Amino acid sequence: MSNKNNNILLSVNKISKYFGGLTALKDVTFNVKKGEVLGLMGPNGAGKTTLLNVISGEYSPENGNIIFKESDITNLPPHKICHLGIARTYQIPQPFVSLTVGENLLVSTLYGRQMKRKNTALEDEKIFDIVGLVDKKDIKAGSMPTLELKKLELARALARKPELILLDEVAAGTTEAEIPQILKMIKEIRNMGITIIIIEHVIKVLMNVVDRIVVIDKGTQIAEGDPSSILCNNKVIEAYFGA
Ligand SMILES: Nc1ncnc2c1ncn2[C@@H]1O[C@H](COP(=O)(O)OP(=O)(O)O)[C@@H](O)[C@H]1O
Ligand SMILES: [Mg+2]
Repeated sequence: MSNKNNNILLSVNKISKYFGGLTALKDVTFNVKKGEVLGLMGPNGAGKTTLLNVISGEYSPENGNIIFKESDITNLPPHKICHLGIARTYQIPQPFVSLTVGENLLVSTLYGRQMKRKNTALEDEKIFDIVGLVDKKDIKAGSMPTLELKKLELARALARKPELILLDEVAAGTTEAEIPQILKMIKEIRNMGITIIIIEHVIKVLMNVVDRIVVIDKGTQIAEGDPSSILCNNKVIEAYFGA
């Protein structure tokens, strides 16, 4: 049973998830290595967000299991999975709109796995620096534009001190001119040694940061490989552009 390859941080094993008669995920299987940036690709409705929801404990799969650091985390509640070291962002940012940026971060820090308050201020400072919200700490989250909300969403996930971070379309809703800032943030997170699973429609973002890509179409894994091989994979082209 024990996972001999201790370089593997997360194993997704034969995960299936149904919504009534709809097969959202079918036998999805892959590993994520420590320190790796894994891209998750697939057309709209492919099952990408559902997969993140299964990994983070928001959905229970009908079949299969999720192994994180050699422990079975399938069916654990989200807060337990978070405490074990997995944090996520949402496609649509979910801050506490009536709280300031600083207060939002504090809430996330307390929810995260490092419950000790010691050095929290210092750590928060580093997080604000990475996402570029140093000057925005006293602004109410509800009054911020999309890019800033995306930054806060990332900051909130980082405040949980994750070993693995799940990013759901961080670049979606931002402008072309803002992409370099997003790329820089993702690279800084990677350089901190945090393992990343990233869903991203902006191909430029994916190609610049990922080590490997898993492609899902209609809930089924159709390809896995390095970015350049994925871009010229016939099944992937067919999934995106039709036969
Ligand atoms: N909570 C839910 N209840 C019913 N159907 C859902 C639910 N969440 C997702 N789905 C369906 O599952 C499929 C995959 O959705 P999703 O994982 O959001 O796709 P993606 O993130 O790849 O665009 C879609 O057909 C979607 O409508
Ligand atoms: Mg999605």
